[in-house]
Amino acid sequence: MKRVAVLISGRGSNLGSLIDAADSSYKIILVISNIDGAAGLERARAAGIPTTVVPHAGKTREVFDAEVDQVLRAADAELVVLAGFMRILSDGFVRGWEGRLINIHPSLLPAYKGIKVHERVIEAKESKSGASVHFVVPELDAGPVIAQASVPVHPSDTPQMLADRVLAVEHNLYPEALKLLASGKVKLQSGLAVFA
Ligand code: GRF
Repeated sequence: MKRVAVLISGRGSNLGSLIDAADSSYKIILVISNIDGAAGLERARAAGIPTTVVPHAGKTREVFDAEVDQVLRAADAELVVLAGFMRILSDGFVRGWEGRLINIHPSLLPAYKGIKVHERVIEAKESKSGASVHFVVPELDAGPVIAQASVPVHPSDTPQMLADRVLAVEHNLYPEALKLLASGKVKLQSGLAVFA
C-alpha cells in the first residue's frame, strides 16, 4: 500500500473523491495546503487524515518547495498527488519526486495547457474536452499522460457549465489513475508513461 500525500489549495473535491475511492493500493497519509482555510482541509480532517499548512507568502519558490519537500519526507510519503494545487513547483522539487508526482488538468492534454482552459475551449468551438492525469515534469502541464476522460462541449455551454461537466469525470479518473501508479501498473520510464 503506497503512502500518498495530496497537495491542495482550494475546495478539494478531487481530494474527496481520492479519499472515498481509496483501496488496498494506496492510503492518503497527509494533506498539505499552501492556503490556510482551504475547504479541502476540512474534508481531510473529517476523514481523520493529518493536515499541514505551508504558507507561501513572502518566500521564494525554492524555499517554499523545500519546506513542502521536508514535510513530505518527514511523513514518509511515497507518492505526491496535486489536486487543485495552485503553485508552480520548481524544477528541483519536480526532479526529486520524478515518477512519483502526478497532477490532474481539466483538458485533453496536450491541448489547452495552462489556465482559463474552458474559456479557450469554448472560444475555439471545440466539440470535445475532458480531463487528463499526467506525471509532472518541469515544463508546465507537459508530462506524460496516464489517463484521460472526455466530455462533449455544447454550443450553449458557459465556462462554468463545461467546468462542472469536466469535474464530474475527474472524480472517477483521478482515483483510477492513482491506483494504476500505486499498484505499479504504470511507470515513468525515459520520459514516457509505460504501462505494465
Ligand atoms: C480541478 O478542475 C482540476 O482539474 C484543477 O483544479 C481543479 C481542482 O478542483 N487542476 P478541486 O479543488 O479538486 O475541487
